Amino acid sequence: MSVSRRGFLHLAASPPSLSVLAARGLEAHLAEAQRSGGAGTLVPPGVDEIRISSNENPLGPGKAVLDAIVGKFPEAGRYPFNSTPGEAALTAAIAAKYKVKPENIVLGAGSQELLKNGVRAFTNPSHGLVTASPTFENCTGIAKKLGHPVAEVRVDSALRLDLEPMIAASKGAGLIFFNNPNNPTATVHGATAVADFVSRVRKVSPDTVILIDEAYHDYVTDPSYQSAIPLALETPNVFVTRTFSKAYGMAGMRIGYAIGRTETLKPLATLKMPYNVSVLGIAASISALGDPKHIDAERARNTDVRAFTVKALHDLGCTSSESQGNFLFTDIGRPAKEFREACAKQGVMVGRDFPPLEKTHVRISIGTMEEMRKATEVFRSVLKADTLPAGGRQEEAAWR
Ligand SMILES: Cc1ncc(COP(=O)(O)O)c(C=O)c1O
Repeated sequence: MSVSRRGFLHLAASPPSLSVLAARGLEAHLAEAQRSGGAGTLVPPGVDEIRISSNENPLGPGKAVLDAIVGKFPEAGRYPFNSTPGEAALTAAIAAKYKVKPENIVLGAGSQELLKNGVRAFTNPSHGLVTASPTFENCTGIAKKLGHPVAEVRVDSALRLDLEPMIAASKGAGLIFFNNPNNPTATVHGATAVADFVSRVRKVSPDTVILIDEAYHDYVTDPSYQSAIPLALETPNVFVTRTFSKAYGMAGMRIGYAIGRTETLKPLATLKMPYNVSVLGIAASISALGDPKHIDAERARNTDVRAFTVKALHDLGCTSSESQGNFLFTDIGRPAKEFREACAKQGVMVGRDFPPLEKTHVRISIGTMEEMRKATEVFRSVLKADTLPAGGRQEEAAWR
């Protein structure tokens, strides 16, 4: 079965109907959207929405992947070990891509399952988590929920992971979360710096496990960057996580994976929920892996739109950190919340707060060129209309 891209996207987008809003009330809708953190928050009904809040690929997957998903609908009645292709075929396809054994891969329901299980497996009340601040909060949140110690090391003045204090904090830690590129600051460390970091941590604290999250790998253009996958395969206690949610455009399919030495991954394999990946997700991912040119094209598209958006914001007096992802972290000199709410009124949804920089910086995901042309016009009107709150610049000055 084949489906047109436009038709599929039309079917997939389901804003609340006016009758639902009338029956339940706008307040209820907004409250629910706010509670769930979903898109639609604060956007008035009838206003076209541009969702640049969650670092998704605005185009979704390519046509071959959509066809693979739709083509597997008849197999929805099967378990993923009993479908064709099954779970093992996806593991084999990923293993073939990296020329490793299936035992070097653990699949996850999105990479978040692997992050969560990494914290469960490798931290405890006496061996905590070392992470950055701000960074992707998943590991931090789970360690705190479990009551395990967390050392949050503030990013440096270029908004990059601050490696020296992270190394210093690693002694006796159970797990280090190393996000490269780092969400939300979008910065990377090059291959040499990552290898040096790993070797120094292993000297200071050989039993500490290092999780290198490369969710945004496919968007990086900095030539000094390289994936840490080869490093993870040759070094004990290191693993890399990847996801199909970003450049592959499959956030709704929930497929991620961890890659590393078999003995390092064993606790993740043990904690993995049975049948954690769906039949549709398996078919979609295998199809996507077979089309690397699509990812090259997506990287090129994102690079162009990213450059346009960085410049447009720069022309508005707002500086972004050196972005290597499909999002920017931009100094707007005022609280992200005010900016977010003002933009939402005009239909543009930007990212959530990222403490400790939420008083000055906002995360803006990269949409299509058309979306970013419209969004930057909205940014212009909001930034012009606002008078700079007195606290904004002071906080920024204190930070630098
Ligand atoms: C750095 C990072 N890692 C992991 C994830 C989770 O991705 P998923 O669970 O969709 O694979 C995200 C999502 O935004 C992210 O930004």
